[in-house]
Amino acid sequence: MEFSDKQQEIRRLLRERRAIMLAHNYQPGEIQDVADYVDDSLGLSLTASQTDAEVIVFCGVHFMAETAAIICPGKTVLLPRLDVGCCLAESVTAAKLKARKAELPGVPVVTYVNSTAAVKAESDICCTSANAVRVVNSLTASRVLMIPDQNLALYTARHTSKDIEIIAWEGWCNVHDGLTAEEVEDCKAARPQAVFVAHPECNPEVLELADAVRSTSGMLKFVQESPSREFIIGTEKGILHRMHQENPGKHFYSPSKRLICRPMKRITLDDVLAALKENRHRITVPEEVRVKALRAVERMLAVPRD
Ligand code: 13P
Ligand code: SF4
Repeated sequence: MEFSDKQQEIRRLLRERRAIMLAHNYQPGEIQDVADYVDDSLGLSLTASQTDAEVIVFCGVHFMAETAAIICPGKTVLLPRLDVGCCLAESVTAAKLKARKAELPGVPVVTYVNSTAAVKAESDICCTSANAVRVVNSLTASRVLMIPDQNLALYTARHTSKDIEIIAWEGWCNVHDGLTAEEVEDCKAARPQAVFVAHPECNPEVLELADAVRSTSGMLKFVQESPSREFIIGTEKGILHRMHQENPGKHFYSPSKRLICRPMKRITLDDVLAALKENRHRITVPEEVRVKALRAVERMLAVPRD
């Protein structure tokens, strides 16, 4: 692939600063194309934990860069913009969680990585969309509180092999939860051969219509391995960039015009250049919060993969 002048400059600065650039699957195409790694939340956390680079330029939303800062205390984690929040992560605070925990003594808290460091610090174990069922299956408790995504909690409750009660937090992602079953049905009617793949943050009526439910990178793998040629993609549109690149001859359709995460789209090549030149915006987590949050992240990373 031919890099633009700005992309070439980014690659030069990354080498000069011994930095790596991580990008989430929803980032703008030009950001994905110049990054070292493009992945889902779990994959990016693992890459951050394994890299020997000194600087991590994180192109995603705030909680993702914070997760990298939790895992890599000795490294400089840069988020090119600060106005990149996640409405799901913002639906729970450490204070609200503490109050709920007081009502549920002894009930372990399973926290989706789409959450702040302070909330992770109040949690027993983290999970992502790729491993939520595995994480819950690894627990011995008979009841757990799962925060903050109620749709992921309901999906996990339906698929766990454990006899476990999952108490859901009332939170959701506006982008995924806003997708309606009617929109999916209309898209299916227009593309009767298409396979429908959905993210577990979608609401239960939409997940009921899905042929497969996957994390963002799980979707990329699924469409690559599937013999089908047409797919309806129930997640943020940015993922279609790599799907088109990696699967010439296959066709991908978004069932709704509203499947756009605005904060994910804010980071530009100029922001990445400024981040590298001016060392901004450095994401740090107070040490006492970081150590407690790390425990929950490490417990998740220790759950064996299938
Ligand atoms: P993934 O972990 O599947 O990449 O999802 C993160 C996210 O924010 C989905 O909206
Ligand atoms: Fe958060 Fe939803 Fe955006 Fe994912 S798509 S980062 S859950 S607001």
